[in-house]
Amino acid sequence: MGFKRYAGVPAIALLSVLACSSTNGAVAPPTSAPPSGVGAPGIGDTDFPLDGNGGYDVAHYDLAIGYTPATKHLDGVATIDAKAAERLSRFNLDLAGLKVRAVSIDGAAATFSRRGDELTVVPARPLAQGAGFKVKVAYSGRPQPLKDSSNLGTFGFIPTADGAFVACEPNGAKTWFPANDHPADKATFDFRITVPKGLTALANGEMAGKPTTSGGRTTFRWRESHPMATYLATATLGDFELREGTTPGGIPNVAAVDPAYHSSLDSLYKTSGRITDYWSKIFGPYPFSSTGGVIDNFAAGYALENQTKPLYGGFHPDESIIAHELAHQWFGDSVSIRRWRDLWLNEGFATYAEWLWWEHTGRSTTEATFRRNHARPANDRIWKYPPGEARPRDLFNESVYTRGGMTLHALRKEIGDETFFKLLKTWTEQHKYGNATTPEFIALAQRLSGKDLQALFDAWLFQPHRPA
Ligand code: TRP
Ligand code: ZN
Repeated sequence: MGFKRYAGVPAIALLSVLACSSTNGAVAPPTSAPPSGVGAPGIGDTDFPLDGNGGYDVAHYDLAIGYTPATKHLDGVATIDAKAAERLSRFNLDLAGLKVRAVSIDGAAATFSRRGDELTVVPARPLAQGAGFKVKVAYSGRPQPLKDSSNLGTFGFIPTADGAFVACEPNGAKTWFPANDHPADKATFDFRITVPKGLTALANGEMAGKPTTSGGRTTFRWRESHPMATYLATATLGDFELREGTTPGGIPNVAAVDPAYHSSLDSLYKTSGRITDYWSKIFGPYPFSSTGGVIDNFAAGYALENQTKPLYGGFHPDESIIAHELAHQWFGDSVSIRRWRDLWLNEGFATYAEWLWWEHTGRSTTEATFRRNHARPANDRIWKYPPGEARPRDLFNESVYTRGGMTLHALRKEIGDETFFKLLKTWTEQHKYGNATTPEFIALAQRLSGKDLQALFDAWLFQPHRPA
């Protein structure tokens, strides 16, 4: 998104930070394979070697969370359904801070240890390759959000004046639940979130039953029944006003705003509904069971495309950013990246969606937007940063957004509108609820167009200078 533009944070300040961040995006040598039976401490993303874990695949997270804003104390029980990909005498989960009280596997106590953000679990007896198992982790403490090394600020479970603002990209899920915290391992989610009576807890998907109150605390149940990357999970809670209904096209729609944003409730609800319906025509059927959005009064200055409920932090979202976050429901949330360096598949597409929305609403054509950006001087930062190789220390560089979007427009001009829009729909259809990579996108574009597009993609995605 243009979190830079919507931020209320001057672009200059962000850019000067970007200028200092240095990484060449070099591929780290593969970490040596752990001994047999030991699940790797990382899922295999060379740019984020300790994110996620190896040796198993999560199918479902059941998260029972209690949170008390006054003390910032969280109590959690996470029950995780997983399948061993290999024989496992031990395996890891990601968890940052918080105290683990007990871990069990299939009901039997397991031993565990902590080191950094790695929780190592040792089952009473090794898990067989292919075995399904249930890990239960009881934990509690004060969640500590993470700080991005470059341009994003704080992310994860962030305590606010009246509750919590939960936005976890790229690897902040581990600040509030034990996870295989990498988008390559998607899973379905059940949430049971208990808060002081009067507050509202908002998570992904739809409510699974009415909230129940007892002893001065209310429990909200939410269920996301479509696979979701861990960074898209939320448990944003506090004072909220809700508006619920369906989009004109019939998709359930939930908007929620902090009372400080009361004046935006109606427009958030209506704009989210209209845009969800429009994208459904352009990108293919809406992949989830509900849409909507949440505005919290936490001054994050950015938004995150939390699955089914984009989260806007501390500003009145305009149509551009709503179009952006809702486009992510297709590009990023349903079709997820397998490795962070391919982030342009999320941000370039969502940025291009903003331009498509401007074209649709008559504000400016995509061609004009493309030209305006192409006319940036040769020494503009986006030309030095190849968006096809997002760098771990500067993941959300503007190039990934803007030059990523320009890549799609250059492609559209090369293959024509008909093939281009067919490509977008085929992409969302083929990889629905799954993961994909840049080479797969290039291959599909070439197959559908019958053209050799290597030079185009190379110039736009991988060269450190302005394409002709
Ligand atoms: N993906 C977000 C967007 O483009 C930006 C973002 C990245 C973000 N990391 C985040 C937002 C962490 C909130 C928290 O819209
Ligand atoms: Zn985005």
